[in-house]
Amino acid sequence: MSEGGILVTGGAGYIGSHVVRQLGETGRRVVTLDNLITGFAESVLYGDLIEGDTGDRELVARILRQHDVDTVIHFAAHTVVPESVSNPLKYYGNNTCNTRNLLECCRDAGVKHFIFSSTAAVYGIPESDRAWEDSPLAPINAYGTSKLMSEWMLRDLAAASDLRYVALRYFNVAGCDPEGRIGQSTPNATLLTKVACEAAVGKREKVYIFGTDYPTPDGTGVRDYIHVEDLADAHLRALDHLEAGGGSTVLNCGYGHGYSVREVLEMVEKVNGAPLPVEEAPRRPGDPPVLIAGADRIREELGWVPRYDDLEAIVSSALNWERKLVSG
Ligand code: UD1
Repeated sequence: MSEGGILVTGGAGYIGSHVVRQLGETGRRVVTLDNLITGFAESVLYGDLIEGDTGDRELVARILRQHDVDTVIHFAAHTVVPESVSNPLKYYGNNTCNTRNLLECCRDAGVKHFIFSSTAAVYGIPESDRAWEDSPLAPINAYGTSKLMSEWMLRDLAAASDLRYVALRYFNVAGCDPEGRIGQSTPNATLLTKVACEAAVGKREKVYIFGTDYPTPDGTGVRDYIHVEDLADAHLRALDHLEAGGGSTVLNCGYGHGYSVREVLEMVEKVNGAPLPVEEAPRRPGDPPVLIAGADRIREELGWVPRYDDLEAIVSSALNWERKLVSG
């Protein structure tokens, strides 16, 4: 195991906080940088939390130096697809320009390893029923493009320096820490499972189904929902890979099968034991009909074995967290 520190940007956010927790549990030295705009200080269960921005060059350089960082895990980003369509420069500013700044600081400080939160949105509308890592890259929203530009910056920097990286392309992340210590608290959340669980506990009047005329079996969008605990574990496996001298790589993070919006809502109803108030609505801008991972490469290259590939377990953990938020 390397002795260097690990900087987690966005470590107070939904996925980042699960990774910080898992790193802390394995005894790793971790420091979080988060501007706390969408993150929560109380979600950071291990290591120091520094409030600030990845675009702040002096701050980032100081953290890398003071914490003797040799690995950066970079989550800090805006992530809402429809917002990226209506406000693209916000996404290019934070997701692309700030990542460039962070990478420059990493280069100057001699950081060795970089793990990047990328997204399935880089594929746009895949030509086949699965998106594989070598499928065409054709994002249909600024969110996907902003992340793809960062992947390419990483690729080019790695070719020109000693930095090695793993870019993880997340499919649809859902669920919470199975022990209920942390979860997804994002205000004005847009993610289907979160929205549905909020409706289930009475925090929302209803759930809208965005699009019922897609070319899918029940007409609603199909996604590959991955439990946040398995996704967090993929980061730890990526870290092991880099520390063992493994080469740079780009990997899908999904289970390789999908559920429709209606199937997810039915599962929430089943777990909650009550019908959900649902309304059908037009398609949402920027949404592909189907997005499912070709999910073999991550198993082969990282030896990643998912433990929570079960929609009921995903929904149960999300609903438990939502109930906890409601009960204060
Ligand atoms: C999510 C991620 C995005 C990632 C993508 C990969 C966030 C905020 N979004 O976006 O970063 O690139 O997965 O696939 O982390 N839906 C409804 N009603 C709702 C909400 C959603 O019908 O109230 C539908 C959507 O139209 C879509 C599906 O549910 O068909 C999933 O949507 P959502 O949970 O918002 O995730 P993505 O937009 O896929």
